Amino acid sequence: MENVLPTYKYFDIEPIDGHDWHIIDANGKEYVDFTSGIGVCNLGYSNEQVKTAVGEQLNHIWHTSNLYINSMQDQVAGKLCPEGYLAFLCNSGTEANEAAFKIARKYTHKKKVLAFNYGFHGRTYGSLSLTGYEAIQSGFTPLVPGSEFAEYNDDKALDFIDEECAAVILEAIQGEGGVNVGNTEWLKKVEAKCHETNTLLIVDEVQAGMGRTGYKFAFEYAGLNPDIITCAKGLGNGLPVGAMLAKRELASAFGPGSHGNTFGGNKVVMAAANAVLNQMTPEFLNEVKLKGEYLFQELNTQLLPLSNVEKISGRGFMVGIHLSDSIDVAEVIKQLQEIGMLTISARANTLRLLPPLIMDKKTLEWGVQQIKNVLEKEVASC
Ligand SMILES: Cc1ncc(COP(=O)(O)O)c(C=O)c1O
Repeated sequence: MENVLPTYKYFDIEPIDGHDWHIIDANGKEYVDFTSGIGVCNLGYSNEQVKTAVGEQLNHIWHTSNLYINSMQDQVAGKLCPEGYLAFLCNSGTEANEAAFKIARKYTHKKKVLAFNYGFHGRTYGSLSLTGYEAIQSGFTPLVPGSEFAEYNDDKALDFIDEECAAVILEAIQGEGGVNVGNTEWLKKVEAKCHETNTLLIVDEVQAGMGRTGYKFAFEYAGLNPDIITCAKGLGNGLPVGAMLAKRELASAFGPGSHGNTFGGNKVVMAAANAVLNQMTPEFLNEVKLKGEYLFQELNTQLLPLSNVEKISGRGFMVGIHLSDSIDVAEVIKQLQEIGMLTISARANTLRLLPPLIMDKKTLEWGVQQIKNVLEKEVASC
């Protein structure tokens, strides 16, 4: 990678092909993928419905502009939005959060936005200003003024939510932050305080959404009713698409000329998103939920007793295996790669699993066994 800015630290693997939950690298080595390209290819690497839909669209027009009617956007928005919401289509998670930040300020005429430590919302200036990591913000100041940060899952956060607040933004499960599951009671208290103070609640579903927890949106497990929902990643199963969904009454703040982009809702990515949403049936989601429960049962029985595992967190197909200081997560990832399994990390020495939602129980069980083997070997060598 000689001609690309060094913003990423690469593993020494070049995936060049894939099918289902398998990835094949440039040397012909096959890996079982427990990452889905960081929660993106939820339906695997060879989903026929997505392939057919995109292929058919490529035979027609690929791109027009948002100056013309695009009924494919309307169809996708209709399938994606819960009742009473309208969508703004864009290309990524950070753009969805930018749109959320903007509509919240414009609608409420307020400036302050509360976000959470170790919440991750993206890297453009607005969403970076809401991303609770000093290390990620470092060097890019001044950021967009008005953001404040509180501790996730902590009642003290409620004191930050007042009449000055335009919005609170949170993930129902913090992904990058270490797969921290929002406590249902706490999330409900945050929502209630938002209502009390005319503050909008934005739930960032970029990583935890699109079926990953066995719900279309992860916040459903807590019974939340956000004012704004943001999504991306799994929505296009690998094609770049994001969306900001806002309650219908917010539409007055996003009239013509207020916001926009060139590519958002492009016909090719809409074909992919439509095919993804067609497959997000109650039966499919229920199957993810059941397989997820099985996965957690396996994780808890196989890994939790190990001395180098401190905690297992997550829901459905979103897993954090919190390792003790005696072992470096990077070393575990490396050893798993050697035996043909791809995983990623999250903050605080956490091994993160985001398997494609189509993965079968046998493979999930195999993956847990591989992790166990690596962790046991490390214990033995200590
Ligand atoms: C919860 C969450 N929000 C936003 C983003 C940013 O999305 P993108 O990388 O598509 O801009 C991410 C990316 O990891 C994420 O996990």
